[in-house]
Amino acid sequence: MLTFTPEQRRRFAADIDGDYRPKTKKTIALVGLMGSGKTALGKRLAVALSRPFVDSDTIIEEETGLPIRNIFEISGEAKFREIEHKTILSQLNGSPVILSTGGGAFCNPNTRAAIKAHAISVWLDAKPTDLLHRIGNTSSRPLLNIGDPLKILDDLRQQRMADYLQAELHVKTGRHSLRLSMKKMLNILEKNSYIEVLSNKNDK
Ligand code: S3P
Repeated sequence: MLTFTPEQRRRFAADIDGDYRPKTKKTIALVGLMGSGKTALGKRLAVALSRPFVDSDTIIEEETGLPIRNIFEISGEAKFREIEHKTILSQLNGSPVILSTGGGAFCNPNTRAAIKAHAISVWLDAKPTDLLHRIGNTSSRPLLNIGDPLKILDDLRQQRMADYLQAELHVKTGRHSLRLSMKKMLNILEKNSYIEVLSNKNDK
């Protein structure tokens, strides 16, 4: 679980256009490809809703003491998915958080079923060129280091689309600013009665 410094809190709050309160007691799980904005938007959503922020990859790295790319190298992807599944299950069993999941987590049928049963799933979607633009340096993403990253992201998006489409809510993050993506995500959460708007900065 990540705690923010007052400076981070201020920075994240600058991308939030109002005051909001969760109406759900469920965890909100962000799913989608690498570079779709799960971590950046997840941290801002956590500040907006005063909920803790948790990143499944970070927990895995803390608990194993290894960077994700080393887990892939040493133990392989199948073992990583097993660890990822257990990590996400234990988060879903705890108090509600904003959970950023690794890009492949929602494509594991067992992990997806658990998220769908216990959390509100939000798919953040963007085109491969936008994803790669946001990722920048691919060295910490083992799946992108085995060929042309743009082609890999394109293939992964096609392979995983049917899984991501099973998420409850969809937000297109494209190349939008974090502020605009936050607005879209908060609007969708509000329309679905998962949060309430206490005040809107545009009204002030
Ligand atoms: C992966 C995405 C990564 C990380 C691992 C595998 C994937 O997480 O879990 O490298 O399968 O798409 P991010 O989506 O947070 O980069």
